[in-house]
Amino acid sequence: MTDMTKQNRVLIFDTTLRDGEQSPGATMTHEEKLEIASLLDEMGVDIIEAGFPIASEGDFAAVSEIAKRSRNSTICGLARANFKDIDRCWEAVKHAKSPRIHTFIGTSPLHRAIPNLDMDQMAERIHETVTHARNLCDNVQWSPMDATRTESDYLCRVVEIAIKAGATTINIPDTVGYTYPRESADIIRMLLERVPGADTITFATHCHNDLGMATANSLAAVEAGARQIECTINGLGERAGNTALEEVVMAMKVRHDILPFETRIDTTKIMNLSRRVASVSGFNVQFNKAIVGKNAFLHESGIHQDGVLKNVETFEIMRPEDIGLVQKNIAMGKHSGRAALRAKLKELGYDLADNQLNDVFVRFKALADRKKEVYDDDLIALVADQATNEEHDYMQVKRLRVVCGTEGPQEAELTLTIDGVDHTIDATGDGPVDAAFNCVKMLFPHHARLELYQVHAVTEGTDAQATVSVRLQEDGRIVTGSSADTDTIVASTKAYVNALNKLIVRRQKSAPGDDVKTVTYHGE
Ligand code: KIV
Ligand code: ZN
Repeated sequence: MTDMTKQNRVLIFDTTLRDGEQSPGATMTHEEKLEIASLLDEMGVDIIEAGFPIASEGDFAAVSEIAKRSRNSTICGLARANFKDIDRCWEAVKHAKSPRIHTFIGTSPLHRAIPNLDMDQMAERIHETVTHARNLCDNVQWSPMDATRTESDYLCRVVEIAIKAGATTINIPDTVGYTYPRESADIIRMLLERVPGADTITFATHCHNDLGMATANSLAAVEAGARQIECTINGLGERAGNTALEEVVMAMKVRHDILPFETRIDTTKIMNLSRRVASVSGFNVQFNKAIVGKNAFLHESGIHQDGVLKNVETFEIMRPEDIGLVQKNIAMGKHSGRAALRAKLKELGYDLADNQLNDVFVRFKALADRKKEVYDDDLIALVADQATNEEHDYMQVKRLRVVCGTEGPQEAELTLTIDGVDHTIDATGDGPVDAAFNCVKMLFPHHARLELYQVHAVTEGTDAQATVSVRLQEDGRIVTGSSADTDTIVASTKAYVNALNKLIVRRQKSAPGDDVKTVTYHGE
């Protein structure tokens, strides 16, 4: 790299699997985490924050496995400011070709009060823990949590201590999404000017979107000298989420004239990752979301359509292909063969192994028999469904019949294959979905609470597939199941069973409450 490109190179640090997964209900399975990490690596993400290893056995296993499988990305784990967290983090990330330990402590007055440390005691803690991390790993990131509400002098003091102790990246988190672009830039500028050694390390920006300014705040920090942006796919994250990776990356690409920065991201992979993260997290992308929303490239009004037909640049600042969005068309029909399906899926960003393709092909044929036209979005929903509802799952929906209409009560008769054995039962309910869910509860008694039930039509038309998300909560464990089918009740029941399958895996992997959401940021 020349000095010039080095100066303009912005590292992309993706924390979908850590900060994103902390979003209540966004919990992903082990396999889903491995898949997302592999896609992020392939897309060119520089650093993947794979999890919080001390939080649970599941998190530790996921971070270790992601580290072992890493190809180009640096793999990072999160650790609080204590030796036990840092050692556990190192145990997980050390398998990576390029490991990183990320340790943090809340430095603002509000956060200092919780572990009850005064300024000097906290400074000492930072020195000890960063030194310890650096003795284990030569790539150490340190974050003063709630940096944007930390007194300027104290922020400069603790950043200097962390640099002297060996931190190679200093991250400046706007933990509660409080800052504003000018202030975000001023903080980075101040640290670069006032802290000895600041020119020897990389400054990172980590913004939350509580006031809708995460993208602007991140880019402002970069203009002021930060060279790492921390972000998540679809802006997934607690509360209003984190900086969206697709937004900062595309902003630097489209407005290269005023943001002359380079990333290593292959932007044509964005759409596929966005869809996978939405599907595994159960957090659908809002239709008007920048870059990846369903309507982001849709031109409804006559004036816009006319302009775009004459010259796309009239109303489009980027091309759908730039983010890997192939134009919607009638994809396939019931006479299409396996090779055509493989080619179409490849075009949509899915490179399936032969056995996966066979499974999707069977489902595609069944769908094509039931539905007049099979669109790209139908195929995407089929692939997502195939990935979430596996044959080796503990429970599967085998058969469902419902009776519904104006005269209640509605009835359902359900056959579930549980651990290889078929069980049939019937139940009534307040509507067909309720009746089907009651059957599931009778066949597999549990006390998980239904937290979310969401239905989306994949395409237009009354024969459209419905994708259903079901979120359950049991003893602090939150799981989201999903499924797609042209029959909404079938999709709902499968999504419910998918969530229960995930819950069973979580029960086996962790003790009650042994979950990232229950690890406090301040405790030991
Ligand atoms: O938002 C935040 O402060 C964090 C830290 C742990 C970096 O996510
Ligand atoms: Zn955060």
